Amino acid sequence: MRRTSAFAGLAIAGLLLAACGDDGDGTEGTGAGTGEGSGEVEVFTWWTEGGEKAGLDGLVATFEEECADFEFVNGAVAGGAGANAKQVLASRLQTNDPPDTFQAHAGGELLDYINAGQLEGLSERYEQWGLTDSISAELLEAITVDGEIYSVPANVHRANVVWANPTVLEEAGLSTEAPASVDDWLADLETLRESGIQAPLAVAVDWTQTMLLEAVLLAELGTDAFNGLWDGSTDWGSAEVTAALEKYGQLLEYANDDRASLDWPDAVNKVTAGEAAYHLMGDWTAGKMDADGLTPDEDYVWWPAPGTDGVFQWLADSFVLPVGAPNPAGTECWLEVVGSYDGQKEFNTKKGSIPARTDTDPADYGPYLQSALEDWGSSELAFSLAHGSAAPIGWIDATNSAVGQFSSSGDVAQLQQQLEAAAG
Ligand code: GAL
Repeated sequence: MRRTSAFAGLAIAGLLLAACGDDGDGTEGTGAGTGEGSGEVEVFTWWTEGGEKAGLDGLVATFEEECADFEFVNGAVAGGAGANAKQVLASRLQTNDPPDTFQAHAGGELLDYINAGQLEGLSERYEQWGLTDSISAELLEAITVDGEIYSVPANVHRANVVWANPTVLEEAGLSTEAPASVDDWLADLETLRESGIQAPLAVAVDWTQTMLLEAVLLAELGTDAFNGLWDGSTDWGSAEVTAALEKYGQLLEYANDDRASLDWPDAVNKVTAGEAAYHLMGDWTAGKMDADGLTPDEDYVWWPAPGTDGVFQWLADSFVLPVGAPNPAGTECWLEVVGSYDGQKEFNTKKGSIPARTDTDPADYGPYLQSALEDWGSSELAFSLAHGSAAPIGWIDATNSAVGQFSSSGDVAQLQQQLEAAAG
């Protein structure tokens, strides 16, 4: 697989970690594996409906079996991509009221918590639980900061996927295959509009727009230059970025006006209802499609975002042990389940993601996930800003706010300036 250098940034940031207040082992060392401990374990996520909730339920069922002395408490806060959950979490961490564990993206997004000394190191537990050899090497590299690991990844998701309604495409005389480039996609969008579909591209709230923007940047700049946006080696102010932002603006002209008030499942529903033809969204959409009883290749088709074939824009959901967690033994039992073969199978088959482990049996997974498993092993890798593998939360928030503004202003120069400023 192709490696990139953005995580040099992580290593550097890790060096700045003066002292996290512990030696990477701030826990009492009880819990999973020893069967010691009891009590409630509050698990904080943003998974409250559809395939996401089904995935969480799969993990909980495994936890209830493996950690029978502990009681799962659902601390979920609804809102795709953690739009609301992350705010609630920040204020809880600030007032020293952490949940026992919380969901966070592996990679850049963890840096804020690590730098603030809010996470316990887990490297020793990795050895104890046999994770060092079971979790994919790419992920281990991405989550190691200054030699220490701070989270257990539950999965790998792909962000650069377009979900399309084949009937809508065929009725407009279009092929159900992927357009080869953003320009070809724009031409198809125009054909769809002429056929009477007013807003053929379904888009939702700001972070979904950030995903679309990233997919266009990836297609237009290529993988290396795109990854360079996150480590400073690609200039946000360049003419190439301007040209990509202009194309992004053209795509948005084919999108629904009510986007700011929709979450991602609403946008997917527009596609499956035939009101729109396409939605660009991560592959948790496969879990939603399954939960909605839809049939792949009949009710929906999917492809890598136009111009990004052969590139896997990855992100990973992971769980952490916060400093001051009320029940560290219970958290450890949860984390061991998250990293385990059974936990990952129960979770990922329902959530619509592939395991972070390398010992997966593809036969356990449906058609979309089998294709994702193959692609994860054979593609170039790109980071995702919207879902935290690329950069810290401050950068993500500033970008979401810039694209949210652009959604009404359409001002490319202002967007570019704000994206440059977000990069710091
Ligand atoms: C992502 C997360 C996914 C999925 C998605 C939509 O940030 O990694 O697992 O939950 O948000 O809510």
